[in-house]
Amino acid sequence: MTAKALTLTEKILHEHLVTGEMKKGAPIGIRIDQTLTQDATGTMAYLQLEAMGVDQVKTELSVSYVDHNTLQSGFENADDHKYLQTVAKKHGVFFSRPGNGICHQVHLERFGRPGATLLGSDSHTPTGGGIGMLAIGAGGLDVACAMAGEPFMLNMPRVVEVRLTGALQKGVSAKDVILKVLSMLTVKGGVGKVIEYTGDGVKTLSVPERATITNMGAELGATTSVFPSDEVTRDFLRREGREDVFRALAADAGAVYDERYDIDLAALEPLIALPHMPDVVKTVREVAGQPIDQVAIGSCTNSSYRDIMTVASILDGKRVAPNVSLVLSPGSRQVLSMVAEAGGLAKILAAGARLLECTCGPCIGMGQSPVTNAWSLRTFNRNFKGRSGTLSANVCLVSPETAAASAIRGVITDPREADFDLPAEPQAFLVDDSMIYAPEREHPESVEVVQGPNIRPLPENTPLAAAIEKEVVIKVGDNITTDHIMPAGAKVLPYRSNIEKISEFVFRDVQEGFKAHCQKAGGGIIVAGENYGQGSSREHAALAPMYLGIKAVLAKSFARIHAANLVNFGIVPLLFDEAADYESIAEGDVLFFDFSALAPDAPVRVENRTKKRSFSTHHALSALDIEMLKAGGKLNYIKNKQQS
Ligand code: F3S
Repeated sequence: MTAKALTLTEKILHEHLVTGEMKKGAPIGIRIDQTLTQDATGTMAYLQLEAMGVDQVKTELSVSYVDHNTLQSGFENADDHKYLQTVAKKHGVFFSRPGNGICHQVHLERFGRPGATLLGSDSHTPTGGGIGMLAIGAGGLDVACAMAGEPFMLNMPRVVEVRLTGALQKGVSAKDVILKVLSMLTVKGGVGKVIEYTGDGVKTLSVPERATITNMGAELGATTSVFPSDEVTRDFLRREGREDVFRALAADAGAVYDERYDIDLAALEPLIALPHMPDVVKTVREVAGQPIDQVAIGSCTNSSYRDIMTVASILDGKRVAPNVSLVLSPGSRQVLSMVAEAGGLAKILAAGARLLECTCGPCIGMGQSPVTNAWSLRTFNRNFKGRSGTLSANVCLVSPETAAASAIRGVITDPREADFDLPAEPQAFLVDDSMIYAPEREHPESVEVVQGPNIRPLPENTPLAAAIEKEVVIKVGDNITTDHIMPAGAKVLPYRSNIEKISEFVFRDVQEGFKAHCQKAGGGIIVAGENYGQGSSREHAALAPMYLGIKAVLAKSFARIHAANLVNFGIVPLLFDEAADYESIAEGDVLFFDFSALAPDAPVRVENRTKKRSFSTHHALSALDIEMLKAGGKLNYIKNKQQS
């Protein structure tokens, strides 16, 4: 009998399978080879790792990056960074200092390897798919568990083939490819799926170009996206001085996919995502001429050597339009140093750009909030309302080519009208790991973990009661993002390790005084529409509501990572059977839930005591999820398991 032809996704999952059967939709547990954390999610993840009593991480490699919150306008961030550096050193984790670069880009350059599994406490972890690894974003607690050697649980994904043919024209780039995919599949189109790229067009794309595509696959809601590992991958690794980790990997001939899409790269033209969703995609031609106020280049999506040198070539000898503020936040120190050495930085600065640190910066609302009612063009991956820090801003997502061409003219401009050269790929990358610190392997017990006053103890949850009667403290509509639930930005991020304080910001822009409301009501229930919790992997969007006493979220549908985070923190995610039941509920209604018979596939009846009507709900909880919920969350569950 011949073996079944496998997709690349199935091959990697099969090699890492620990529990379960690889049947579509069925729960499986996989071994995690590598983990990454960033500072905004990392403090919690390491507090959780410590709470589990883990001395040394069990993964082949774990890295703690500091890239999100590097403003040090008070002691809080500095406290977080010190904690992260010392806790990493003690527990076997590499530490990448602030300024070394954004986690996903540095990981791709310095650590990723084809065929490995990577779990990261950041939703854009799928960037690693550009190098042929199965790289998945998750909440910090899941990453802490992976570091503790626990398998990562997910439902066996469906696999979507995106077959690429042809080659991109000058002025069209990888960003336009993923914007095209977003226009086809939408922000919900990837839920429960892995997007696998195949076809002749793959070999025309470099690893960083592939990584731009897999990075923004997160906006499809996909579990991850992955490219084959081929000679292009080998060449990238060789130039990074890491050819030894190369391994060729591709789907078997005749592998069967659940869905298939075709994209002719040669037929693509420059695209733009308009406010306020990454899938509101138009051609740049259609909106050309719109005056703009800001252009922001960089982020983990578009910061490769090719991206920044192309920008330098477009700006060469020109000036940024007086009505435009142009900022550059390079993705890694490696790229910044190489662009500087090649003369690109001088051209960018001469054109009037402002250079920021090699961090997330404006992408996470850390500075550079645009002017009121601004049109801001960004090479980033998200344009949710308010994420820039200016609620009235119109943020659009574009390629570096479109961004640079528009910065000069002051209006949205098709980059095919600009005069520029595509940069030659460097023969070798400038490798300097001096800002990455190895852990203390010999005497970890000698390392003191420094916990300043901003590092507060983890809040604890109580086991789930058999029956719950609570008020609907908020009712929201469709596509609520984790930014709505738990905003980011310079005022909030410093409190990621201080849940009592950060809980003041929950639903800040949606309902005034949400925290006080929850405290008065003694906790409560959230009612939501479609795709609740889309966006980042931010577990604080579940952890802070847990702290405020939220016991269940009743929604029409959930984003994958957020639903998992809710379970991790002991909040029950329930789904309406009928849309009409969503309509029948008002804020302030009191709902009663009987959780005594909570079981996989069993419906849960809900009684609206205010309206005197009852209705049925369902859920996608596994037996393990239910055990965790009953324990009051994953941390309690694991602690109980260790004690018994
Ligand atoms: Fe950072 Fe923005 Fe990427 S916050 S990790 S640059 S999505």
